[in-house]
Amino acid sequence: MLEVKHLTKSYQKDKPALTDISFSVEPGNFLAIIGPSGAGKTTILRSLNQLIKDDDGQILLDGSDIRSDNKSQLRKHRRQIGMVFQNYNLVERLTVIENVLHGRLGYKSTLAGMFGIYSEEEKKEALELLDKVGLKDFALQRCSELSGGQKQRVGIARSLIQHPKVILCDEPIASLDPASSHTVMHLLKQLTIEFNIICVANLHQINLAKKYADRIVGIRQGKLVFDEESSMLSEEILETLYDQSISKELE
Ligand SMILES: Nc1ncnc2c1ncn2[C@@H]1O[C@H](COP(=O)(O)OP(=O)(O)OP(=O)(O)O)[C@@H](O)[C@H]1O
Ligand SMILES: [Mg+2]
Repeated sequence: MLEVKHLTKSYQKDKPALTDISFSVEPGNFLAIIGPSGAGKTTILRSLNQLIKDDDGQILLDGSDIRSDNKSQLRKHRRQIGMVFQNYNLVERLTVIENVLHGRLGYKSTLAGMFGIYSEEEKKEALELLDKVGLKDFALQRCSELSGGQKQRVGIARSLIQHPKVILCDEPIASLDPASSHTVMHLLKQLTIEFNIICVANLHQINLAKKYADRIVGIRQGKLVFDEESSMLSEEILETLYDQSISKELE
């Protein structure tokens, strides 16, 4: 279980980016974080794997506080937290399967990682994961030859080969067309259940958040203003969250 308690962060003095954010997610659940630009969504996500240091609060992964980790504990925790990026963060000139295998780097010595030494078992698992995201036939293709939607599916396979407890997705579909967006969201939901992991995604696409996420957290000016099952997201709440009527988004 992932529990965030009273998370607080200011980048500049007297300008809080996050104030007292608390929420929790159980394995097998997909949580979407929504809210206007600058609300603090990325700050939350980056705090969850300590890419940025927050100021106060607790981030408990199965009861253990990531914020009080020493270096080696943090390395272990980061292996348990996969990342999926808006811009995929793939090595374009490498093949699809090589990119998936990069998800194993957190488990390797620098040298083994540098020489790309992976076991047969790891390669087999990479192929199985590519099969799950519908890209088995693309394993030996260079990533530069893929569409955006396909690249994001490689990114998802790369995060899963880490054997994560949590995957964090910062706007995973912001660069995709509507059809690929649905494919990626559907996959995230399905794999979250299949692997019994926690998926937390920042999204601007409210209709897709409502369709695919189990739960939605709404952030406004660094404060949590909504934390409910996604079916509870109403027009009134969206108006409060975004300061305007965006009811069309829900259609
Ligand atoms: N490195 C930084 N230094 C100073 N201020 C920052 C930094 N990163 C973010 N902020 C500020 O913190 C606040 C929250 O930013 P954040 O990137 O978390 O928002 P967001 O909800 O992810 O927005 P978007 O939807 O545009 O991605 C904003 O006011 C932003 O200007
Ligand atoms: Mg952001």
